[in-house]
Amino acid sequence: MKCYITTPIYYVNDIPHIGHSYTTIASDILARWKRLNNFNVFFLTGTDEHGIKIAIAAKEKGKTPQELCDEMSAKFKEAWKLLNISYTDFIRTTEQRHFIAVEKIVQDLLDKGFIFKKKYEGLYCVGCERFFTQKDLDENGCCSFHKTKPALQSEENYFFKLSSFQDALLERLTNPNHKEYIEIQPEERKNEIIGKLKLGLEDISFSRSAIEWGIPLPFDKKQTVYVWVDALINYITAIGYPKNEVTFQKYWPADVHLMAKDILWFHSVIWPAILMGTGLPLPKKVYSHGFFTLDGNKMSKSLGNVISPQELVDKYGVDAARYLVVTLIPFGPDGDISWQELTLKYNTDLANNLGNLISRTIKMAEKHFNLQVPETKPDLELAKKVTTTIKESFALNMDNIQLHKAAEILQNAITLVNRQIEIDTPWTLAKTDMNKLASCIYSYLQAISIIIMHLLSFMPSISEKIWQIIGASGNINETAKKYFIDAIIPENGFSVVNSQLQTPGILFPRIV
Ligand code: MSP
Repeated sequence: MKCYITTPIYYVNDIPHIGHSYTTIASDILARWKRLNNFNVFFLTGTDEHGIKIAIAAKEKGKTPQELCDEMSAKFKEAWKLLNISYTDFIRTTEQRHFIAVEKIVQDLLDKGFIFKKKYEGLYCVGCERFFTQKDLDENGCCSFHKTKPALQSEENYFFKLSSFQDALLERLTNPNHKEYIEIQPEERKNEIIGKLKLGLEDISFSRSAIEWGIPLPFDKKQTVYVWVDALINYITAIGYPKNEVTFQKYWPADVHLMAKDILWFHSVIWPAILMGTGLPLPKKVYSHGFFTLDGNKMSKSLGNVISPQELVDKYGVDAARYLVVTLIPFGPDGDISWQELTLKYNTDLANNLGNLISRTIKMAEKHFNLQVPETKPDLELAKKVTTTIKESFALNMDNIQLHKAAEILQNAITLVNRQIEIDTPWTLAKTDMNKLASCIYSYLQAISIIIMHLLSFMPSISEKIWQIIGASGNINETAKKYFIDAIIPENGFSVVNSQLQTPGILFPRIV
């Protein structure tokens, strides 16, 4: 089975920060989880490089737009490398393959009668790259997101007949039995979209005449394609549209488009309308998460409070940074984060709970069993208990991208094993019953191996390392793939008797 997952393509006028990282890490965790569940995953990210915003940013920096795009796009690639993002493809909208796809879609829409020309006057917010009507603005006449007054612009543009898709969209967004049903998540945001849709749709500007930095319309080279139309089409360009029919058919429609609430409208209304206009199938799911603020403030360059991926990695290490960013606030609603809370969660979940479990287990094995999996009759009771704790709700939460809940289930499982150690009091067994001690340590190792396979999508590198530390056999990815199909623990466990263990060092040093 295939699974096509996308992040938004990010504007190159900004450097990658924790906001972009949030969506990208969450998508990566989903992609890794799906791969472990034997899906053939295509995971796409990239950069959105056209439009007035980019042209202005380049001018301010004394660069050509293309120079700025090359430089900034590389920064996103570096950030994703740093965060261990396993994308299948990274698309840039300035690539030739994308021009071909955009030209084809735009021409198709014209041929099918969905494009017309008209003189237009409207209020344009450069930050959002969109026209607003008076009713969309706040009480001060500003864009509620950028808090700036959109400028009045007047030009002759091509328009897209968005209004003619209102009924078809309503049907597809509200009727789960429709064969082209698009699921919008979460429910509250879906209701907002439906509410707005019911108020009626206006046709939208499809091209700009004054902006050169874009893809020229194939039928009127003096105009460029509106940057949002250009950007959305990236999702089909990357899987081969229109030239590579085989890969396109293999992966389209998208299984989930992920993004924050700021751009849900474009993905759940405008994008499906464009696809319907050209007769292409619609995405299955559009999932928007909330916006997060830092210490109660919006993150912005001017406030100087933007957290970079590098800062996160420097402080917590790659794996912990990935884990913390996606588990600190629930995935869906808005939330506030702070360095203090990130550190508190790091110390609680990783240094104290997980780190402590690994370290105390290995220390006992080192002291009493020569750093080997103790020789004993395999006891899988605890591992089975852990499996029951994790099992169904973990998978359900991962599939629904409720990553904070999935992580909580894992923390409960870790706590369960730590508690079992307190109950067993192996430090007294060491004096009284070495056979029982061997069996206990063996059982902790098996329980840990189950937990680690589930942590793998969140923390890929350190999970592999822990797999070695606990002497578990085979490659963790291959073993987890098999385990996720049949949920069967091998008769002798994953950490087989007499296997060599490794001293872990301090996996998650406490941070004060
Ligand atoms: N280029 C468009 C997207 C086109 S997709 C066809 C764009 N780019 S953006 O650089 O502004 O990225 C917006 C996205 O970045 C959000 O939807 C979200 O995924 C992520 N975030 C940026 N800041 C964020 C927060 N403060 N909080 C959560 N997510 C944030 O829009």
